Amino acid sequence: MAAVLTNPLRVGLRQERVIPPQCLVIFGASGDLTHRKLIPALFELYRQRRLPSEFAVLGCARRPWSDDDFRSRMAEAMADQIGDDHQAWAGFCAGLFYEPADLSDPASIVKLGERLERLDRERATRGNRTFYLSVSPSFYGSGTRALAAAGLLADSERSRVVIEKPFGTDYASAQALNKVVQACAKENQIFRIDHYLGKETVQNILVLRFANTIFEPIWNRNYISNVQITAAETVGVEERAGYYETSGALRDMVQNHLTQILALTAMEPPGRFDAEAIRNEKAKVLQAARLANESEPWTCCVRGQYSAGGSSARPIPGYRQEAGVDPNSTTETYVATKLFVDNWRWQGVPFYIRTGKRLPKRLSEVVLTFREAPVHLFDAAGGAPTPNQLILRIQPDEGADIRFEVKAPGSGMRSRPVDMAFSYDESFGEPSDEGYVRLLADAMLGDPTLFTRSDEVEAAWRLYTPVLQLMAESPWQLPVHPYEARTWGPAAADGLLADDNLAWRRP
Ligand code: BG6
Repeated sequence: MAAVLTNPLRVGLRQERVIPPQCLVIFGASGDLTHRKLIPALFELYRQRRLPSEFAVLGCARRPWSDDDFRSRMAEAMADQIGDDHQAWAGFCAGLFYEPADLSDPASIVKLGERLERLDRERATRGNRTFYLSVSPSFYGSGTRALAAAGLLADSERSRVVIEKPFGTDYASAQALNKVVQACAKENQIFRIDHYLGKETVQNILVLRFANTIFEPIWNRNYISNVQITAAETVGVEERAGYYETSGALRDMVQNHLTQILALTAMEPPGRFDAEAIRNEKAKVLQAARLANESEPWTCCVRGQYSAGGSSARPIPGYRQEAGVDPNSTTETYVATKLFVDNWRWQGVPFYIRTGKRLPKRLSEVVLTFREAPVHLFDAAGGAPTPNQLILRIQPDEGADIRFEVKAPGSGMRSRPVDMAFSYDESFGEPSDEGYVRLLADAMLGDPTLFTRSDEVEAAWRLYTPVLQLMAESPWQLPVHPYEARTWGPAAADGLLADDNLAWRRP
C-alpha cells in the first residue's frame, strides 16, 4: 500500500529563503571535505540560483596556491558533478578565490582580513562573512581565537563561524572548547555542524510529529514499547584511519548524529518554530537521557570491530588490516547501546542505538515499536501478531512505513502484518539535497536551528561519559568483539535486546 499525495505538486515545492551578499571563507580548502562536500554543495546552491550575485568563496590553507590553482583543482575534483554544464561552472568558478593563510599565525590572519576587505569591494559582499573551519579539530579553539584577535568576528550580525565535528572528544574537552569559542563570539555566531541535521528525513521527524494530530497522542510510554535508532554503513574506514583510530564509532557517529536523532524523536513540541525554542527542547531531552545502567556501562553497551569477510571473489579486509590502522587496534567500528530518557513522556521506554561500518546494508532508520494489543483475538500468521511499528527511513530510500496487522485473505480470521509506505521519491519526484546544501545555506542565512547549541553538545558528551571513562580506564570491561565484515555486528549486541525479549529489526 502506498501513501500517495492526492495532489502531487511537482513544481513549486521548494520554498527557499534568500541568502544575503556573502563571502564564505573555507579554512582547510586543500582538504578532503572542501572538494568532496563543500564546493559541491555551493555549486548546487548556485545551480538552484540560491546564491546571490554578490558572492565569493575564499579558500584558505597553508599551500601557496593562486586563485587559478584553487579553481582548477576544484574543477578537477568536481568533473563528474559539472558534467557538460560548463557554463554553470564558469559562472560559479568566477566567484572562487584563494588566499594562503595559517590559523596559527596571527599576521597571516590580519593579512586575510585585508584580502576580505578587497573582496568586499570587488564582489559587493558587504562585510557578511561566514568562516568555515574545515581544519584539524586541534585548531577549532585557536583558529576561532585568531579570527577574533584580527577583529573578524567583532560584528555579531555579519560574521559567523562554522565548526565541524568532532566538537571535543569528551565532556571536559567540549566544555573547554565552548569556553574558548564563546569568549570570541556570541552563541548566535557559532554554528556547530552535524550533517545529519541537514538531511531532509531527519528534519521530517519534526514535521511528522508536530504537523499531524495522529501521532502525538500515542508518542509516549503508554503506547510505545521501545525505540531503535540504527545507522548502518557498508563502507569501512576508507582513507581516514588517522582520524578514526583516535575516534571510533561512539565518538564518530553516536555522540553526535544518532544522539541528535534521539533528541528529535523524543523532544516535546516546541512553543514556536524557532532556533531557540527547538534547541531548548532538544537540550531538555539530552539532559533527561542516561545510559540504561550508568554504574555498570558494560551491561548496556557493546563494542565491535569488523574482521575480514566478504566473498572469495570480493574479499573485504578486516579493520586491523586497513592502511594506517594499528594491527592491534582496539578501536570500535560498531557500537550498540541502550538508553533511557527519564521524563514523564518516556520513563521506562528503552532507546537502543546502534551503528557500524562494514555491515550488510547502508541504512539509517528510527523504528518506534508500539505495545502489543492487550488481547489477541485472532491467530497470527507467524504465531504471534507483530507489534505495530512506525519506521522512519532516514536513508537511503527516504520515507516512512507504518506496519500493522490486517486480515489474511481466506475463510479464516488470521492476521498478518503489512506496511503502508510513504516514499519521498514517489511523492515528490525529486532527490533531496545533500545535508551540506541545506546547512551551508542556513549558516550563511544566520539561521542556527539545525546546528547544535553549546548545552546540547555538552549534554550529549555527558551522556556517554561512563562509557568513555570505562574505555579509558579499564577497556577490558568493554571488549571489542570481532564481527565478520558484511554481517550485522557482534552477537553480544543481540544479547543487549534479548535480555529484554526483543530483537533488532533486520531491514
Ligand atoms: C561522518 C562520519 O560524520 O558520517 C563517517 O565521520 C560516516 O565515519 C559518515 O561514514 C556517515 O554519513 P552519511 O551521511 O553517509 O550517513
